[in-house]
Amino acid sequence: MTGEIASSVVLGDIAERAAREAGAVAAEGFRSPGMAFETKNGFHDFVTEYDGRSEQRARAVIEQHLPGAHIVGEEEGASGQGEITWYIDPIDGTSNFARGIALWGVVIAAVRGDEVVAGVVYDPVADQLWRADERGAFLNGAALRARGMTVPERATVLATFPPANTLVTRRIEKLEALAQLADGFAHVRDLGSAAIALCYVATGWADANFGFNIHPWDVAAPAFILRQAGGVYRSYGDGQLLPESRDHHNSVYFGTVTDADFPLIDAILRSQTRTDASV
Ligand code: IPD
Repeated sequence: MTGEIASSVVLGDIAERAAREAGAVAAEGFRSPGMAFETKNGFHDFVTEYDGRSEQRARAVIEQHLPGAHIVGEEEGASGQGEITWYIDPIDGTSNFARGIALWGVVIAAVRGDEVVAGVVYDPVADQLWRADERGAFLNGAALRARGMTVPERATVLATFPPANTLVTRRIEKLEALAQLADGFAHVRDLGSAAIALCYVATGWADANFGFNIHPWDVAAPAFILRQAGGVYRSYGDGQLLPESRDHHNSVYFGTVTDADFPLIDAILRSQTRTDASV
């Protein structure tokens, strides 16, 4: 495939193979007795030996197909070069994985220039594989439409809010915003994996998801899956909505099912990303 422009379906096939193999490696460690975990950036942020092993397997599969490919992984950073950038989150939801909570997944995206062209999120425990390419979005091969509740009183919101690392500033305002969410929506839940949460919205199992402190390896694939399912993905910075181009690089996001706009969440994200808000 060297030299030619691969179709997004072929890139999706590679991402799927890599995610399935990496997921099998991670699954070997899930709930294994005495699995060690360490902290990375403070005590809220876990990493396990299986994050590294899973990423190595995903890298090996991609490199089998595309030797020297440009890969950016959460654990090992950047390597290689090429027209396509591959983002790998070997275990999104490591805090769940490390404790035995079955909400985590392997996340792989293929990005050409500024544009995500294929993405896969694989939950090996439930054997659920979400995938998107130029043909649309799919869960285990079945086409997805992001249809759900569009009225807050009926809607389920998935969010890790307020994130612990932001509570040093404007703490009361953030807790007040959380109270408004709890008051205004049917349910508010924290799944602990941004990628799985966005895929739940893409599938219509939840209606909105927003988050902070996010990286391209967390979000490039599920944001694309949500969009290809007909849902809406937005990102915020400096108190405003940011342009769509390259928005997988932005750290604050909000995804919804089709035809839902939920102005309370939009207002919260504008307020939380004001330059003095330090999220
Ligand atoms: C984390 C999860 C979590 C989100 C964090 C991410 P990781 O990814 O997606 O839901 O709130 O911002 O860093 O560290 O488990 O790969």
